[in-house]
Amino acid sequence: MLLKLQGKKGLILGVANDQSIAWGCAKVLHGLGAEICLTYGNPKTRNYTEKLADQIHAPVFTQMNTSNPEQVEEVFGLIKEQCGTLDFIIHSIAFCPAADLHGPVSEVTRNGFASAVDISWYSLMLVARQGAKFMKNGGSITAMSYYGSQKVIQNYNIMGPIKAALESSVRYLAVELGEKNIRVNAISPGPIATRAASGISGFDKLIADNEARSPLKEKLTIEDIGQSSAFLISDMSKRITGQVLYVDNGMSIIG
Ligand SMILES: NC(=O)c1ccc[n+]([C@@H]2O[C@H](COP(=O)([O-])OP(=O)(O)OC[C@H]3O[C@@H](n4cnc5c(N)ncnc54)[C@H](O)[C@@H]3O)[C@@H](O)[C@H]2O)c1
Repeated sequence: MLLKLQGKKGLILGVANDQSIAWGCAKVLHGLGAEICLTYGNPKTRNYTEKLADQIHAPVFTQMNTSNPEQVEEVFGLIKEQCGTLDFIIHSIAFCPAADLHGPVSEVTRNGFASAVDISWYSLMLVARQGAKFMKNGGSITAMSYYGSQKVIQNYNIMGPIKAALESSVRYLAVELGEKNIRVNAISPGPIATRAASGISGFDKLIADNEARSPLKEKLTIEDIGQSSAFLISDMSKRITGQVLYVDNGMSIIG
C-alpha cells in the first residue's frame, strides 16, 4: 500500500457504471481506507451503481443531477447527517447534447452550449461552494479535464473550450479556497473507453493512437486515474494546487 487514506471522507460524483472514471477513483480510494459518498447523475443507472456503492459501503449513495439545485442541496444535507465533514471531492462528470458535440464549434447551439457548460463546468462551482463548507480542516477538490482543452483534438469539438474553462476555473478556485487550505486540481486523463467517451466520434482510434504513440505505450485504465487521484487527495501532494496533472502515458508531450 503506497498511501493511506484512513480517516479521510469524500464525495465522488459521476459513477454511471463499472467503467466510469469515478468508479476507478472510488475503488482505489476505498482500497486505501477512505470513506466515500457516491452520486450518480442518471436514475436509469441506479441498478448498476447501487451494487458498486454496496461494494465500498458508501455512507451516502444517491442521485445528484447537478442541474437540479434541490437535489444538490439534498446530497449535502445527507453528507451533513452521515459524515459531518468532508476531506475531498472528485468531480467526474461531463455532458454535451450529441448534436452539438458532433458539429463544428462554430455551429454549437445556444441551448446545447448552455447545457454542456451547466453540467460540465458550472457543477464544479456548485460542489466547490457547497463542499468547501464541510472542509473544516482543509481539503482537496479534483476535476477531470482532457487535453482537448489545450490542443485541437479531432471530434472533441465544443468540449475543448469547455474543458479549457474548467481548467482555468481550477486555478481561480485554488486561489479563492487556498486560505481555507483547500487545494483544487484537475487530472487530465488520456482516452479511456467509458460511456461518455463513446459519444465522441472516432474514439477507438484515439485510444489506439495513444497506445501506439505515447511514451509508455500502455493501455490506460480507470484504476490508473484512481491512483493519481489518491495522490492529489493525500498529504503527499499538500503543496500542490491549481494544477492540471496529465495521466495519459505521456501522450501530451508528443507533437
Ligand atoms: N473517458 C475518457 O477518455 C476521458 C478522458 C479525459 C477526461 N474525461 C472526463 O472524465 C469525466 C468522467 O467521464 P467518464 O469518461 O468516466 O464517463 P462516464 O459516462 O462514466 O461518466 C460521466 C458521468 O457524468 C454524469 N452526468 C451527466 N450529466 C449529469 C448531470 N446533469 N448531473 C450529474 N451527473 C451527470 C453521468 O451520469 C456519468 O456518470 C468527465 O469529466 C470526462 O470529460 C474522460
